[in-house]
Amino acid sequence: MTSDLMIHNETGFVIEDEAECDVQAREALLDRAMGPGRRRKSSEKLRRGRLPSPGLAFVARNGAGQVVGSVRLWDVAAGGESLLLLGPLAVEASSEGKGIGSALMRHAITRAKEQGHGAIILVGDAPYYRRFGFSADMTGGLMMPGPVERHRLLGLELAEGHLDDASGLLVAKGRHGMRSGPIRPVAGMIQVA
Ligand SMILES: CC(C)(COP(=O)(O)OP(=O)(O)OC[C@H]1O[C@@H](n2cnc3c(N)ncnc32)[C@H](O)[C@@H]1OP(=O)(O)O)[C@@H](O)C(=O)NCCC(=O)NCCS
Repeated sequence: MTSDLMIHNETGFVIEDEAECDVQAREALLDRAMGPGRRRKSSEKLRRGRLPSPGLAFVARNGAGQVVGSVRLWDVAAGGESLLLLGPLAVEASSEGKGIGSALMRHAITRAKEQGHGAIILVGDAPYYRRFGFSADMTGGLMMPGPVERHRLLGLELAEGHLDDASGLLVAKGRHGMRSGPIRPVAGMIQVA
């Protein structure tokens, strides 16, 4: 496993590739940061039952080695064009405002570009994500497989013009994988995270 790199001495966290042993801590963090509704998001339809794009799942660890942040990117496509879907991005509430979210974002974008991906899309708050270059300007032709507020469907080109040809319904393209988290009973059903 390649581990990284980015050490922020002033706040004492590191960004690393996510390890198998991080799954439980990551899922607990996402539950705390985003609440139970996170599994009902339209983006989740593009992630469910899939694995993240190879080499594009990252965690932030504090000085004690605990997972305090998480971000992953997923292979999707629209109109025959391959894209990456970013999310969820989450940072432990007690560690917010220290630059961990930004470090995770910049690291994820850099790695995606190094791997030759052409564009990243996400559903999120433009006031946060525009600092990394994301905007809704080039996502007008894309459709999520569920409800989405258009101004929250944001894109970032890693290769110029890549989003010009991406249009239509977004579909999952990731490798099929095992469940990514604990099995949770939901209203009499078993939901697999
Ligand atoms: C959003 C989140 C990842 C930011 O992580 P973080 O480590 O605190 O982020 P950073 O320290 O890099 O950046 C903090 C800055 O972002 C701003 N910010 C945080 N959330 C924001 C939002 N939704 N909209 C606009 N600005 C936001 C903060 O006000 C702060 O601004 P400042 O630098 O001017 O003080 C974190 O707050 C979180 O996990 N929230 C809950 C889950 C969530 O909403 N995830 C995003 C899903 S789209």
